[in-house]
Amino acid sequence: MPHSLTDKQVLKIAVLGAAGGIGQSFSMLLKTQLHTLLLPHSDKHLHVAMYDINKDAIVGTVADLSHIDTPVTLSHHFPASRDDLSALKECLADAALIVIPAGVPRKPGMTRDDLFAINAKILLQLSDGIASFCDLSKIFVLVISNPVNSLVPVMIKRLSQHASSKGSLIERRVFGLTQLDMVRASTFIQQLTGFASNATPYIPVVGGHSGDTIIPMFSQVMFKDERLPLDMEQRKSLIHRVQYGGDEIVKAKNGAGSATLSMAYAAFKITRKFVDLLLGNATSLQDTLYISLKDASGNYIAPGAQELMALINVSYFSIPVTVSTKGVTHVDSEILNRMDDYERNTLLPVCLKNLQGNIETGLNFVN
Ligand code: NAD
Ligand code: LMR
Repeated sequence: MPHSLTDKQVLKIAVLGAAGGIGQSFSMLLKTQLHTLLLPHSDKHLHVAMYDINKDAIVGTVADLSHIDTPVTLSHHFPASRDDLSALKECLADAALIVIPAGVPRKPGMTRDDLFAINAKILLQLSDGIASFCDLSKIFVLVISNPVNSLVPVMIKRLSQHASSKGSLIERRVFGLTQLDMVRASTFIQQLTGFASNATPYIPVVGGHSGDTIIPMFSQVMFKDERLPLDMEQRKSLIHRVQYGGDEIVKAKNGAGSATLSMAYAAFKITRKFVDLLLGNATSLQDTLYISLKDASGNYIAPGAQELMALINVSYFSIPVTVSTKGVTHVDSEILNRMDDYERNTLLPVCLKNLQGNIETGLNFVN
């Protein structure tokens, strides 16, 4: 006898800014792929709640996606006026995971930092909504909006100011997404070396998500169990391409925005791991995420965070982590010890100097 939807436990994923370039393509991946993560005879049901301030775009997008024949259900949410919080409340109610691509993208000639003033205001409003309408001791938040380096500090600081965050350890469950940098590193090395393989090469990328705060660790590229030999010229050109890959798309789109489809792919790669975790298919996940190393009381968020802080002396960093349903449980500070001289002595100092400025910009924005 088939279960009706009402018999099933709902796992709800909220997408904020769901009608934009990333939001639409990312939501399409959720609608078309997520149910494949459900185990046979699962008593769980997946629901994607899509919120955007653009009414026509969100209603139209959800209507369009709702014709796709998968069991993932959808709902649209838009505010009736500037001060209307009821739609955000409805969208966030009982959500387990929030993904945020809300905000303005770059145009040619702009840096990600030029987006800060406008996108920080958006993230502040959304943080207040999350603090009011979600259980901060359970919720996971993935931030896509730029500049990631500064906006994650904005969000974590604001959330931690709310009374509802007390004892919630929310700092362990809010992350900036730098997945696109790893996707690019993997793609570009395949293009450069032309090696044919069914396996996608994995290149650790640490630091932040803009320009020279991005450190792709090409010293660590393995292919068929061997270190891939790259000469310095090849490496420098690959590093530059990963660090400024976003500019390639901004230039190619010529005023029509920045990366959307590749970002949706990158966001889906990590989102499916969180959904697996939340469905109980896995007890933990491992990936690289931009995290806060300390909580609001100044305590390190997990083992490994103190060791990392001793090496970098900045409080936010993108680094391989282990995450359980309670949040980050381990920070892989060891990866920095595997850097070669060029990465440690040339790339890392520049990254840290710029990242520190970006983090301060974010923290100073929140009173
Ligand atoms: P877009 O303009 O196409 O979409 C943004 C959407 O956000 C729009 O639909 C807009 O209506 C909505 N929005 C604006 N204010 C909102 C609010 N207060 N609440 C809810 N929705 C709101 O932009 P996009 O191309 O989808 O890019 C979105 C953001 O993602 C940009 O800041 C961009 O720089 C960033 N981005 C990050 C990465 C990354 O690697 N982390 C990659 C690509 C783009
Ligand atoms: C990217 O890396 O493509 C994004 O951060 C968007 C941008 O502005 O470059």
